[in-house]
Amino acid sequence: MRTRIKEILEQGTGASLCSFSGWVRSVRSSKGICFIVLNDGSTVDGIQIVVESALPNFSHICRVGTGTALTVAGALVESPASGQKWELAARSIEIIGGADDSYPLQKKRHSFEYLRTISHLRPRTNTFGAVFRLRSRLALAVHQFFSEQNFLYVHTPIITASDCEGAGELFRVSTLDAADPPTLDGQPDFSQDFFGQKTGLTVSGQLEGELFALAFGDVYTFGPTFRAENSNTARHASEFWMIEPEMAFANLSDDADLAEKFVRYLCRFALEECADDMAFFDRHIENGLIERIRGVAEADFVRMEYSDAIDRLQRSGVTFTYPVEWGLDLQTEHERCITEQIVGGATFILNYPKDIKAFYMRQNNDGRTVAAMDLLVPKIGEIIGGSQREERLDRLERRMAETGIAREPLWWYLDSRRWGSCPHAGFGLGFERLVMYLSGMDNIRDVIPFPRTPRHCEF
Ligand code: 4AD
Ligand code: MG
Repeated sequence: MRTRIKEILEQGTGASLCSFSGWVRSVRSSKGICFIVLNDGSTVDGIQIVVESALPNFSHICRVGTGTALTVAGALVESPASGQKWELAARSIEIIGGADDSYPLQKKRHSFEYLRTISHLRPRTNTFGAVFRLRSRLALAVHQFFSEQNFLYVHTPIITASDCEGAGELFRVSTLDAADPPTLDGQPDFSQDFFGQKTGLTVSGQLEGELFALAFGDVYTFGPTFRAENSNTARHASEFWMIEPEMAFANLSDDADLAEKFVRYLCRFALEECADDMAFFDRHIENGLIERIRGVAEADFVRMEYSDAIDRLQRSGVTFTYPVEWGLDLQTEHERCITEQIVGGATFILNYPKDIKAFYMRQNNDGRTVAAMDLLVPKIGEIIGGSQREERLDRLERRMAETGIAREPLWWYLDSRRWGSCPHAGFGLGFERLVMYLSGMDNIRDVIPFPRTPRHCEF
């Protein structure tokens, strides 16, 4: 039976004879002895194996290449060398899969740009090992948090007929012959398509989430999300994962309370449950990361009105590329200025102008803003977008008419306001932006296993 390196390192000499399988990270040999670092993905460091010349296949083993798959049996002993507590004195080593010097990961360090071109191999590097272990653990933390809060987990559909955000960024799902679709009045006739109507990949599970919130009270979705948005930035992906809670009988302030509790929980979880990988990020990716995350885990998040934010940006004396004016959306440069310079920490911006936000947000009494909230964090800007929803049927219908959203395809959404409607609120947390924030990684392409961005979809 294969033991994971992480387990054995935690147990120490308790288990004296053990067997590992993994991939060679480095080989160093001198007369009559050879040292191999083997990594099986369970830890950043792997384990050092000491191979002595008494081993029958010693001469072969000394010549294995980086990347070779090995199975090693031996005894765990205290390491006399600095840098590791334990090492493995090999009794037998079997070469499972060889790797010659054409293996691309020979050097210790490669640029992230280069590693993106070999995303089939980059999980075998220290940095990406740490990133994807953190990502996996955080997914568990998300479910654990909502389970502790008694939220119901709902799987909202991936193929959908509605564009929740109304921004026209749906990827089309169709089985019509693209070269020669059936037409009606010169347009493709989607009534002949697979679902008998126009469909696409979801941009958000929110609308369906709302329906479940109006039955179960507190719910959340956590799934893949797709946006055909032509933004080639370090924070946008065409396929990303989003966590969307929705609460019935809740207003904007309850929504911000939940978001704050959630983000702090995830920070604490990363520090406590992913300590080794976080220490790695602190050493190699962003100095001071652990201090920064600890600060967020303990601090109260600032809440600022949008109008206030505009005011303070205008008075900041900073020169921006994009204009700052009441009624305009905040750009990343503005968001970062607020959270990094003006506040110096996580900041909610509340009550945005209605014209820059989606149709479903609750209209405030001032007639010009809606009960929206974005959570901004240093380095990234927006990490969460949410709102209280418009629960009043007449107001919702009026807003849909004003913004040109057709009522007919959303008849079911309107029905939810017809019977037993109630104040409710929710938000969406971009999972990759969270992983970026907690790891210090700068590019969204480096926190998702196989990134999809405009003009790029390998595998
Ligand atoms: O602000 P957004 O567009 O909000 C919604 O989709 C709402 N329906 C959520 C809700 O209220 N249930 O997206 C929410 C979050 C953003 O704050 C951001 O973190 C992330 O999703 N996000 C993206 N992440 C990566 N790549 C993209 N293209 C993203 N677009 C949004
Ligand atoms: Mg948003």
